[in-house]
Amino acid sequence: MPTYQQLLAHNKAWASKKLAQDPEYFSRLVELQEPEYLWIGCSDSRVPANEITGTNPGEIFVHRNVANMVVHTDLNMLSVLQYAVEVLKVKHIIVCGHYGCGGVRAAMTNHNLGIINKWLRNIKDVYRIHRKEIDAIEIEDTRVNRLVELNVQEQVMNLAKTSIVQKAWKSDQRPHIHGWVYDLHDGVIKPVFEIAPGDHIDPIYEFDDL
Ligand code: CO
Repeated sequence: MPTYQQLLAHNKAWASKKLAQDPEYFSRLVELQEPEYLWIGCSDSRVPANEITGTNPGEIFVHRNVANMVVHTDLNMLSVLQYAVEVLKVKHIIVCGHYGCGGVRAAMTNHNLGIINKWLRNIKDVYRIHRKEIDAIEIEDTRVNRLVELNVQEQVMNLAKTSIVQKAWKSDQRPHIHGWVYDLHDGVIKPVFEIAPGDHIDPIYEFDDL
């Protein structure tokens, strides 16, 4: 593991290399941020959005939290979502989970973990909805991984339930919302669910006065 002094040294070397390759690199990025993607991912250090998708600074707007949740009372997530959809006008939102997620695994236990209980509660709710399917799986890791997939699907639906997304769908036919799961074992992303602009969700969540 590098020391923090090494992180700063690497940063200097990186900045010099970027400038040597392209003298306009930083001035161009300073001028404009127009990413086409909003990424909602897990905070897990092994799932870096840019690196695993081969994208550069300026190409993905990123929000990360434990287990890539879209909680409808989370002002942090909602602020990022509103800015991404209404100001940056992103074309795609990607919710990216990962197999073996510690947050999902913890939510499937009965351990009292303190403050994070409240966050994991949202994942327990997803488990409850899909309990039949998950409980029928014999192997524990497979159960966790299936809940990882279903959780991503549920978070994609949660995005579609926001007035922010519904308004953009109505006026602009975007964003497309994707649910992906990253596999730490081979580095490959599996698309598991998606919703296109205008797709219908349970009508009780559809606003009529956008
Ligand atoms: Co995780």
